[in-house]
Amino acid sequence: GTTLGSAAARTGRYFGTAVSASKLSDSVYTGILSREFSMITPENEMKIDATEPSQNQFSYANADRIVNQAASQGARMRGHTLAWHQQQPGWMQSMEGSALRQAMLNHITQVVTHYRGKIYAWDVVNEAYEDGGSGARRSSNLQRTGDDWIEAAFRAARAADPDAKLCYNDYNTDDWSQAKTQAVYRMVQDFKSRGVPIDCVGFQSHFNPNSPVPSNYRTTLQNFTDLGVDVQITELDIEGSGTAQADNYRTVVSACVAVARCTGITVWGIRDTDSWRASATPLLFDGNGQKKAAYTAALDAL
Ligand code: XIL
Repeated sequence: GTTLGSAAARTGRYFGTAVSASKLSDSVYTGILSREFSMITPENEMKIDATEPSQNQFSYANADRIVNQAASQGARMRGHTLAWHQQQPGWMQSMEGSALRQAMLNHITQVVTHYRGKIYAWDVVNEAYEDGGSGARRSSNLQRTGDDWIEAAFRAARAADPDAKLCYNDYNTDDWSQAKTQAVYRMVQDFKSRGVPIDCVGFQSHFNPNSPVPSNYRTTLQNFTDLGVDVQITELDIEGSGTAQADNYRTVVSACVAVARCTGITVWGIRDTDSWRASATPLLFDGNGQKKAAYTAALDAL
């Protein structure tokens, strides 16, 4: 029968999900995972606190379990994430300045080298911009190392794996009229004009009534690809239920399919009970692993 992965493949796209290593022993979970999905993002296992819990001591066991699962089902991997102000190990949280800059670059070099040849795309930098109307960079220990920290991160990643696609990933960048969206757009435009190695922009797309699917979502995706990068929907979940939720999923999937360089969609978990926002029932399968109306809408839109 048709699946999300096979339907997306008809137009050269992928359909992915976030995966937790701790759930790979759940046969309902792995059954849906291997049947439906052609791209996997580790939900937490490639974050900085997971892969470098003590400085210069790297820990890959849980991430490697997910990479092995992907290989066994013929899915590709999105690496997430190399430089972020959250989920930093304690030793990094207390660092600043040039020592932190060196530690960040070493982390990127080591982790990207470990996974060289196994990662389709890396979220090199995650969530570097402020919410609200300022369009400014978010205040963080990484930002305080100097405004060029993002491009330094991308250059280190390119050097370690020249074949991986290198992405910037963020949330609240879906509405073209928002200052945060414009600020990320200008960064990508600047990087492309100066030859900083960036290949793609990820739109997390965590939607809820306070942050609904914007009417200009497709325009936003198109405008970014016009800069010469691919775009992907990287952490999709939509709070709600029934027809309203299904309609929102249809809108989002249709927007990606309408944009030539929107190369794939990843949902942030499999069943509602797997979600980081489980009470919002934001995913495509219910707690029993049954397909929801949102699943059918997403599949039909591919
Ligand atoms: C979330 C995970 O889903 C949770 O399990 C974890 O406790 C916190 O992080 N933006 C991101 C993701 O880029 O890494 C976050 O994932 C959700 C928001």
